[in-house]
Amino acid sequence: MAQQNHIRFLLNDTEITVEGAKATLTLLDYLRLERRLTGTKEGCAEGDCGACTVLVGRLANGVLRYETVNACIRFLASLNGCHIVTIEHLRGEGGALHPVQQAMVDFHGSQCGFCTPGIVMSLYALWMENSDPSVGQVETALQGNLCRCTGYEPIIKAALAVGAYGSPARDALSVERETIAATLNGMQATGRIVAGPQDDMAILPVDAADLAAVLGEYPEATIVAGATDVGLWVTKFLKPISPVVFINHLEELKTIDLSADMLSIGAGVTYSEAENVIREALPHLSEYWDRIAGWQVRNMGTIGGNIANGSPIGDTPPVLISLGARITLQSMEGAREVPLEAYFIDYGKQDRKAGEFVSAIHIPRPKANQIDAAYKISKRRDEDISAVAVGISVTVDAAQITGARIAYGGMAATPKRAAKAEDALVGAAWSAAAFDAAARALAEDFAPLSDWRASAEYRLLVAGNLLRRFHLEHDAAHEGPARLAAV
Ligand SMILES: Cc1cc2nc3c(=O)[nH]c(=O)nc-3n(C[C@H](O)[C@H](O)[C@H](O)COP(=O)(O)OP(=O)(O)OC[C@H]3O[C@@H](n4cnc5c(N)ncnc54)[C@H](O)[C@@H]3O)c2cc1C
Ligand code: FES
Ligand code: FES
Repeated sequence: MAQQNHIRFLLNDTEITVEGAKATLTLLDYLRLERRLTGTKEGCAEGDCGACTVLVGRLANGVLRYETVNACIRFLASLNGCHIVTIEHLRGEGGALHPVQQAMVDFHGSQCGFCTPGIVMSLYALWMENSDPSVGQVETALQGNLCRCTGYEPIIKAALAVGAYGSPARDALSVERETIAATLNGMQATGRIVAGPQDDMAILPVDAADLAAVLGEYPEATIVAGATDVGLWVTKFLKPISPVVFINHLEELKTIDLSADMLSIGAGVTYSEAENVIREALPHLSEYWDRIAGWQVRNMGTIGGNIANGSPIGDTPPVLISLGARITLQSMEGAREVPLEAYFIDYGKQDRKAGEFVSAIHIPRPKANQIDAAYKISKRRDEDISAVAVGISVTVDAAQITGARIAYGGMAATPKRAAKAEDALVGAAWSAAAFDAAARALAEDFAPLSDWRASAEYRLLVAGNLLRRFHLEHDAAHEGPARLAAV
């Protein structure tokens, strides 16, 4: 198999080849320091503020799709065969400002201007997808963009008006789409890419089998999918992570398979890519999904990365455990499946052997007599990490609780089931008293920590109150025993 030591990509309208790209060179540093494209700003360098927002176009099964990403935590070497679009590429007809830029000017959407290029890029991506958005859709598009001085009202007004300034069909990215897709197609690697020096080496396997082979060769390598956790290890902690194996380009890890009783999601599927199927198969997670990070991070971050990272405050493990999810781990030795709850052994310790990677997540679809919910408690609604998160799945037959799976994040060193609370529910009648008893039992399940997100007392109190909320919400909506008795 031919191996190459360069990556190729399209930057605005220029085809670029970079020999020996270092694994930890961020897209932002490359743009600003090496290409002098300084329109893209650095605010936080940790994916939070959106000042560095650019668009990345990628071919997925032959279809070219553009998404906003945070250039500060995206590694350049992971972008082989992609189209990087920066603020400098935006243009309107006949040399005028681009419709998004003109709307921002007319509605006074900028003061100091530091956030403005990032906001324009987010609104550009929204306009390309939907030129007549609702306020809610604009707010979602801006979840990952912080503006400290203008205030969002003029920005939202500008976003709502852009449709009147021009049609996305006439935008350069639409008009030139076929040519761009053909160019990117010609840039796809046909073999493994190994680039960069020994102490900052980037490896892009050609497929999943090659990924297993690479990890067999370099079992100590750092796997990087969306880089929304690993990016910060580099920009904030200056941690050496070489050799780095990038996997975000591997289509085999991006499959989504929905059957009558199971949803299987490849570990490399991003939150944005999973959004539609989550809404269809697990509608109780729709709002919860929208509260994971912000738009840019959801475009990059993967479910596999959230699990593999092993954080006690990752948002997907509690809800997936409550649904009885299992994961597949793959290596040169073959594949094995483990219940997700068994994967988390202790703080920083997971059941992943050297050479293994997470390849898929399998989520049983809820049964008719199952009531599911997911709640997240954080200081901000958007772009914030949980103090406490919970997935609750309760089975009810003729007003009796016959099964309960309750898993919390933020309450222990790992995402963990609340065994005593579950025991308090199973066999009880669906009632406020049963959920009160379960809430009290949480004190036997957990001894949470106090940290700057929440105190131990608050965590325990809110964890119990979420069980009471679950009961009240489903009682009030007549989705409790009355509906289920009729099933
Ligand atoms: C601004 C911001 C907001 C955030 N908000 C949230 C939030 O609200 N909720 C939340 O839960 N998280 C949040 N995160 C954290 C992060 O986005 C998630 O954990 C995300 O799912 C990580 O996925 P990734 O693909 O980016 O992982 P990466 O950063 O690429 O990797 C994370 C870890 O998983 C490993 N890994 C990745 N894929 C695999 C695989 N297939 N097999 C084995 N190991 C693998 C890596 O080696 C690394 O240890 C936020 C991050 C940022 C920057
Ligand atoms: S610089 Fe703040 S998100 Fe990138
Ligand atoms: S205009 Fe100053 S930060 Fe937004």
